[in-house]
Amino acid sequence: MSLLFAKTMLGPLALKNRLVMAPLTRSRATGNVPNDLMARYYAQRACAGLIVTEGTSPSPNGLGYARIPGIFSLAQVAGWRNVTAAVHALGAKIFVQLMHCGRIGHPLNLPVGAHILAPSAIAATGEMYTDAEGMKPNALPEAMTEADIENTITEYAQAATNALAAGFDGIELHAANGYLLEQFLRPSSNLRTDGYGGSISGRARFVLEVAAAATAAIGADRVGIRLSPFGVFNDMPGYAAMEADYAFLAKELDAAGLVYIHLVDHSSMGAPPVPDSMKTTFRRVFKRTLILSGGYDAARAERDLAAGKCDLIAVGRPLLANPDLVTRWRFGTAMNAPDDSTFYTAGPKGYTDYPALAA
Ligand SMILES: Cc1cc2nc3c(=O)[nH]c(=O)nc-3n(C[C@H](O)[C@H](O)[C@H](O)COP(=O)(O)O)c2cc1C
Repeated sequence: MSLLFAKTMLGPLALKNRLVMAPLTRSRATGNVPNDLMARYYAQRACAGLIVTEGTSPSPNGLGYARIPGIFSLAQVAGWRNVTAAVHALGAKIFVQLMHCGRIGHPLNLPVGAHILAPSAIAATGEMYTDAEGMKPNALPEAMTEADIENTITEYAQAATNALAAGFDGIELHAANGYLLEQFLRPSSNLRTDGYGGSISGRARFVLEVAAAATAAIGADRVGIRLSPFGVFNDMPGYAAMEADYAFLAKELDAAGLVYIHLVDHSSMGAPPVPDSMKTTFRRVFKRTLILSGGYDAARAERDLAAGKCDLIAVGRPLLANPDLVTRWRFGTAMNAPDDSTFYTAGPKGYTDYPALAA
């Protein structure tokens, strides 16, 4: 008896199975507007009970990468409407991941008049690809003023409202992997001396205010969040109080009533593992849905669901390369391998042309 392929609920939403498509940036949104090719790609993968879209910016300032979509303009909302309609027609639910890149970005990827913003004026190590000039060092961000903070919170709330207008079932706040929300959480990127910095209650304040604004806009049942405790991606070094800080966050997010927490574990990609004690803390403290992700195959997914470690399992690369993953995992069929040379390139190659099994 499979738990992974059994129906379940996510808050008030009925899911046809417990498999979630993990958010995957694919850089096919030319002009930052979702298009028909993207609708086709997501529809191909609607065997998952829940799809979480690629990181999508709530603000022109958050478009750090080339060709990522936004959800702040009318054209973007219209483009997303085609995506959500295609996915819903196949019986899956879909949340949009709100990703504000903050200091992970370059002005060449931003529209005219937009700014690279972060809690503090500290550049992240590493480089950013731009269509105009190739690789560039990550930009030195402007430290956000209190007015910038207020404005950005309003942008998140508006993006949440836009998400429902575009037909999404909810939003996922991207507070993982070194982007703006995590930049506030971590002491290496947040050196603020006002109420948004200092101890974890200060560093978590922006994330919690964004969550509160989003839930006020669309309801807590429609707001999830992604976190990467112990993650080091995008210049986010480990530090002694990590586990205590994220335990604090688990408690606050439970009190905020969010519908899910989605934990990232990139140890299968060579990152430090998330200790079991940390995952157990989230499971104990957070009373609603817990999603685990990172390096799952069908057998491990069934094991972790059966052990009660989580409620849903999110899968990235296997679903990227196998649009019919549910069929393949059910019948133990051979899998397509993901081609990382086409993860972020424009056009259909390596995007909508992974073969499905013959019907
Ligand atoms: C091409 C690619 C793009 C990704 N983009 C995002 C993203 O936009 N947002 C996010 O939270 N994680 C992103 N991730 C991380 C995945 O969601 C996932 O955590 C990771 O691939 C590990 O899961 P897997 O072993 O099932 O692939 C990305 C990963 C890959 C390979």
